This record gives sequence, C-alpha cells and structure tokens, in this order.
Amino acid sequence: MTSGVRERAPAKRELAAALKRAREATLRIVEPLDDEQLVGQVSPIMSPLVWDLAHIGWFEDLWLIRNVANGDPSDERFDDLYDAFQHAREDRSRLPLLTPPEARAYLESVRRHALSVLEGKQLDDSDPLLRDAYVYGLVLQHELQHQETMLQTLQLTGVEYTTPPHDDLRSPPQPEDRLIPAGPFTLGANEQPWAYDNEQPAHVVEVPAFWVERHPVTNERFAEFVEDGGYRKRRYWSEQGWQWLREERFEAPLYWQRAHGGWERQRFGVREPLPPAEPVQHISFYEAEAVAAWAGKRLPTETEWEKAAQGADSDAGANVGRESFGPLPVARRATSRVGCDCMVGDVWEWTSSPFTGYPGFTAFPYAEYSEVFFGDEHRVLRGGSWATDPLVARVTFRNWDYPRRRQLFSGVRLAADA
Ligand SMILES: [Fe+2]
Repeated sequence: MTSGVRERAPAKRELAAALKRAREATLRIVEPLDDEQLVGQVSPIMSPLVWDLAHIGWFEDLWLIRNVANGDPSDERFDDLYDAFQHAREDRSRLPLLTPPEARAYLESVRRHALSVLEGKQLDDSDPLLRDAYVYGLVLQHELQHQETMLQTLQLTGVEYTTPPHDDLRSPPQPEDRLIPAGPFTLGANEQPWAYDNEQPAHVVEVPAFWVERHPVTNERFAEFVEDGGYRKRRYWSEQGWQWLREERFEAPLYWQRAHGGWERQRFGVREPLPPAEPVQHISFYEAEAVAAWAGKRLPTETEWEKAAQGADSDAGANVGRESFGPLPVARRATSRVGCDCMVGDVWEWTSSPFTGYPGFTAFPYAEYSEVFFGDEHRVLRGGSWATDPLVARVTFRNWDYPRRRQLFSGVRLAADA
C-alpha cells in the first residue's frame, strides 16, 4: 500500500470478489440481530441499522448502475429515503423504510444488476469514473465504512454480541517519545488509485521538528488523568471543551463505569474490567485535548500525524478489519518508519486540524463526499480503528467528525514541540 509505484487497478474478477467479501461482512454484522433491533432508533446521532443496510444498496444502485450504465433507479422513492442528505439521522426511523427482509432483497437485486453491468462494461480509462475502476473502489469503501458505523450503533444499543475476550490486564509500557526531525514530506495520496478527493492532491509540506509518542494514550494513563481530577480542572480544557463538559457533566470516557477496585467498561453489551494497556477509546476531541494538556503535551496536527505514520501499513499485523471487536494492548504492530506503533488500526486518533481541502483540491466524483464538510466545525481523525477495513485504513485516509462525538472508536496520541 505504501510502495512508490502506482498501484494497478484490480481486474473485473477481483472487483467482483471484493464486492462479495464486503457484502458478506455486512451481512455477518446484522446476522445475530432480530428485526426489532434492526429497525429501532438507538440514538439521535445514529440511523436505524436497517437504514444503513438499504442505503448501502441505494448507493450501489446510484453509482454502479445509474451512473455507470445510465440505468433507471430501481425505485424512485429511494432517492428521498436513502440519500443521506435528505433526512437527519434522528428522523430516519419515522420514514417509510424498507423492512429488514425487503432491505436484504433490495441489496441482493441491486448487486445482481451491478455485477451484470460490470460484466458487460469496458473499464475505459478515458472516463474518470471508470479509470482505475475508481467507482468500484468508491462503492466498496462506502460499504466497508458503513460497517464501522453500524458497529458504533451496535455498541450504543448495548445488545449483547459475541466477541473475542479482552481480558489482558497487564500494565502498558511507559510512554516513549519519538523525534521527527524537521524537513519536507509529501502529504496526501499520489499513488493510490482509490484514494478519496480529500486526500489529494499530494503536495510537499515543510514540517518543523516535533515529538510524537510511540503509542496512543492507554486506558491506564487516561484513568490517571481521571483520578487526578482531570474532568474537574478547568485549566486542562479549551473554552469550548469546558463548556461542553459543563453541559454534559461527563466524568470519564463513554462506556466507563466505576467498580470496586477500578474501572469497568461496557463493550458490545458486556461489562468487563478495563484493560490497562489498551488504547483509550470513545473519547471526544475535547477529552483528547484535555488529556494532552494534563500530560504537558498537545495533539498532533494531521500533517504531523501523517509524517509520523509514513511507512505504517494495514498489513503489518495491524488491528483492523473488525475481528477483534476492540483495541488491543499497545505493542509493536503497524509500525511506522520512525518507530511509532499502532499507527494503523486500534483507535482513530484525534488531530488538532479542522477538516479542509488540500491546496488545489477538486471535488470528485461529487461535492457531498467531502467538500460540503470543509470548515471549522469538524476535526480530523487519522489512522483507522479496529473496526476499519484494511482497504480503507491507509495512512493518507482522513476521517472527520464533530469535536463532541464519542460514539466513534476514537482515541489520541500525544505530540509536543521539539
Ligand atoms: Fe453513506
């Protein structure tokens, strides 16, 4: 994924196989759930799971049938129901959505049609949608990203879900700093044919020297911050962060609960002792900023983050791809050239950067993917989580969200000026 050679676009057979693999993973996530769990509105910030399901099909219909082959929509109503820009998440359960069996049948019929379009289509390099099979990469990544969203929803429901145990209670290693010397580096994606518009164009930036930690902040360290009165001391919080905290009255990360002899957390419906060496997750940007201030440090900018992440790879034992159902104790995996571990996978890492376009940005293939979100409202997260698919978890990938959000599989890695 990180070689200097432009990657070859997959052949049709590989595309079909990748689509199949993604679909199987989607269906595996919802398989243990009953219809009631699929249609329920769990939280105002999340869609009912059955909406995500049908929306995946609608997006595929839009791009792989209508845009690629000028096909007609399977159903005219779906542009209203399943376009994410039409209705707020909190209103979606009141819409006349497809039932779970209907949504499954819809997914299947769209897929059949999309595969027959692929079969008969010349992947023509003169069409920007088809060059490097871009539109297939778009639809694939869209489905894979929705799997992570669905796992956030499931975690919010508290539905008990069978997952691998997280019972390693060993202490983490001491925090360690890595020095990133001053110098230019190339920010953004040059060679990855399926990179999104917001990762481009790649461009050289000068970065002053800085320190960055080898590991993301662990639960043990975050618990020290909590015990030290971190949530009560104004000086660790930004103005906005403090205001948010006073409204919400949080005292710890989402899903943490005090128990005799320490902290517990709830993970997919099960309460378990908090594993000290796992990266903290489910913190907001404000909490990330506060723990950094407490440690006498700061968040990295996204440029610093990406420079520190050079050479890290989702293949290098990274905790990605949903199998672990949580971060794992920090260790040597997904290691970057400068020796930062867990740069890919485990938890998304908040950066201090607002989400904006790189110089020379051009929206492609539609403004609603990234451009409409540019501005000061969102902060960028980097590196992917345990729930991110390896196809998406590349070091140039930019995620963004509101600074108050905590349902994300989000943590933080600390930096400092050199
Ligand atoms: Fe979507």
